[in-house]
Amino acid sequence: MIDPGLYEVINRRRDVRAEFTGEPVDDEVLRRVLAAAHAAPSVGMSQPWDFVIVRDPLTRKRFHAHVQEERDTFASTLDGERADTFSRIKIDGVLDSTLSVVVTYDPERGSPAVLGRHAIADAGLYSVCLAIQNLWLAATAEDLGVGWVSFYREEYLRDLLGIPDKIRPIAWLCVGPVAGLQRTPDLERHGWRSRMPLDAVIHNERFSAERR
Ligand SMILES: Cc1cc2nc3c(=O)[nH]c(=O)nc-3n(C[C@H](O)[C@H](O)[C@H](O)COP(=O)(O)O)c2cc1C
Repeated sequence: MIDPGLYEVINRRRDVRAEFTGEPVDDEVLRRVLAAAHAAPSVGMSQPWDFVIVRDPLTRKRFHAHVQEERDTFASTLDGERADTFSRIKIDGVLDSTLSVVVTYDPERGSPAVLGRHAIADAGLYSVCLAIQNLWLAATAEDLGVGWVSFYREEYLRDLLGIPDKIRPIAWLCVGPVAGLQRTPDLERHGWRSRMPLDAVIHNERFSAERR
């Protein structure tokens, strides 16, 4: 049977930056959202993820300062219309969201014989991204917003949160109640980039280079 609720959540999900209210997140709700993430498929059932819940305002302030530096680094690579458009785009809600969840990848979990990863090392990373997407959709179903922040250097985040060298931070996710979810992605609303038509990314039988 088709569950229209799932499609509704998939289409309602947004990357949130400006709409966080900072209101509390119920512990049980957070637990359900993390359980959804932990229910993700993973190569060789390695479950290579960990979730670091960050609430400390000082940690978030430090991270936010680093994000601003990285924002400036990226901005310095732009000019003309791109620079102008980017200057109007908010790229994080680190200080405004209720909490953050940092998702990490442990390539050694389940090793040495990770079933299905011998030829594609990145399959471990794919697994972590699926956990993140589960988290994102579950949070949306719970009426929470999520914003993925990737404007950081991995070494900085490792240092900030005491993450061991062999483990990679994959995402800093801002999480919390929101005033509402935008219907259109922020980057589209601000004229940075639009969602492509579905037919532009479907190929039949062989990869068609003209589509690019
Ligand atoms: C791997 C990844 C990294 C991202 N990093 C950032 C980021 O640093 N800052 C930001 O504002 N959005 C970030 N996003 C969100 C995307 O900009 C967003 O998903 C895209 O514009 C589509 O919008 P939507 O998620 O609302 O549909 C990231 C998304 C992904 C999947």
